[in-house]
Amino acid sequence: MSLQRTLIWDLPTRLFHWTLAGSFVLAWLTSEGDEWLSIHAFLGYLVMGLVGFRLMWGFAGSHFSRFASFWFSPKESLDYLKQVAGRTAPRHVGHNPTGSLAIYILLVLAVVVGITGIATLGGEEQQGLISGWLSYSQGRLLKEAHELAANLMMLVVLGHLAGVVVESVLHKENLAKSMVNGFKMAEPGTPKAKAQWLAAALMVTAMVCFAGWWFSYALGIQTHTPAATSQAQSTTVEEPHVKFVGKALPDNAQWRDECGSCHGVFYPALLPARSWQKMMAEQSQHFGSDLGLDDATVKAVLAFMVDNAADKHNTEAAYKIDRSLAKTATPLRITETPYWVKKHREVAASDWANPLVKSKSNCAACHVDADAGTYEDAAMHIPKAPKLAPSAARAASS
Ligand code: HEC
Ligand code: HEC
Repeated sequence: MSLQRTLIWDLPTRLFHWTLAGSFVLAWLTSEGDEWLSIHAFLGYLVMGLVGFRLMWGFAGSHFSRFASFWFSPKESLDYLKQVAGRTAPRHVGHNPTGSLAIYILLVLAVVVGITGIATLGGEEQQGLISGWLSYSQGRLLKEAHELAANLMMLVVLGHLAGVVVESVLHKENLAKSMVNGFKMAEPGTPKAKAQWLAAALMVTAMVCFAGWWFSYALGIQTHTPAATSQAQSTTVEEPHVKFVGKALPDNAQWRDECGSCHGVFYPALLPARSWQKMMAEQSQHFGSDLGLDDATVKAVLAFMVDNAADKHNTEAAYKIDRSLAKTATPLRITETPYWVKKHREVAASDWANPLVKSKSNCAACHVDADAGTYEDAAMHIPKAPKLAPSAARAASS
């Protein structure tokens, strides 16, 4: 019987395949470094959406896209692998048993990677769907799972690629090409796919809309210039629709009263408990001032500070400041902790000299959420120095 050129993979299946492949590679490339995080997270949500689509298409798609056409047992998958090794594997027009297993594993792993990614984003960055649900250290733990699952996924992808090459050689056909144009040589009577233009168009529209929404609207916070930084009162940046998603940390009115009158409050998570204890023990000589607090006030304020100190690892800053300190070090200045120094090493001298900043301890000048204590990346904003007359500028830089 002569083989006929037959449409096997409908358009949505091919679109799914290549968008998933592209997203996976891009997500891999953008996995390091906060500057790529918005793209990385976008790709993660996109992949989850694609998987959701594929699950649906496994029932609604053309014959060879349906799960029913490639529902093999693990044993069949292994047997097929053996047949391939012995060069006796029969040709499958649709997915072969081993390839099918790879597909199912990839779909499951994609979901695991996506969910752990959302958890990492929520815990480590206090952003995304579950911001505020997890602490920084919980997010950090889930990041391990995220990376493990992503690495496993990469292994399966590599296995899949090897399979495509081997099959293509074994059966003298270009499988990658058929996933591009959809056609394969098949016996007459093989179920033909319909192109499914409408479903494909809907898919593209959905993806374009999602990307548009994500990059213009959902990320608004990152390009948003906060007003009145030094008086920022809460984690919520007043901007319609765009809410800064930092988790609200425990607060205490008495602490705010006593510690926020001379300078902005320094949230307890910025120094370990032992530092606060020392600072309160020496409160009559607080950086040259006598705080003049009575014992009851010291006790109450200190209790709040100890409960939320850096050693509690509630925020990224807490975790990192605590980890950067020697166990014996008891700094009284946040600005002298190794983590703080490292993070601010690259802030230009002109930014420190900016009249809107003036002092290193004026945290709120650059951190919109300083008052709330969250210190999220997304809330960092170096103010632009007001234009100075040339003579004043010269005086400021000398
Ligand atoms: C009477 C005014 C006053 C009050 C009230 C006050 N401070 Fe201070 N605080 C200062 C001064 C002055 C400095 C030194 C500022 C500088 O050098 O930039 C300082 C510095 C600090 C620093 C070091 C900031 C850095 O450079 O890292 C911390 C932490 C701090 N204060 C915590 C507190 C806490 C906690 C309370 C409440 C118990 C408090 N302060 C109340 C005046 C005050
Ligand atoms: C002149 C502006 C400026 C001031 C003032 C400033 N910071 Fe920062 N801060 C920055 C910049 C810029 C970064 C980002 C550095 C980076 O990402 O490498 C940063 C990063 C941080 C981070 C790490 C956030 C993260 O997730 O990467 C913490 C925590 C932090 N600052 C705390 C403070 C505290 C506490 C103060 C006050 C004692 C302060 N900063 C004062 C500019 C400033």
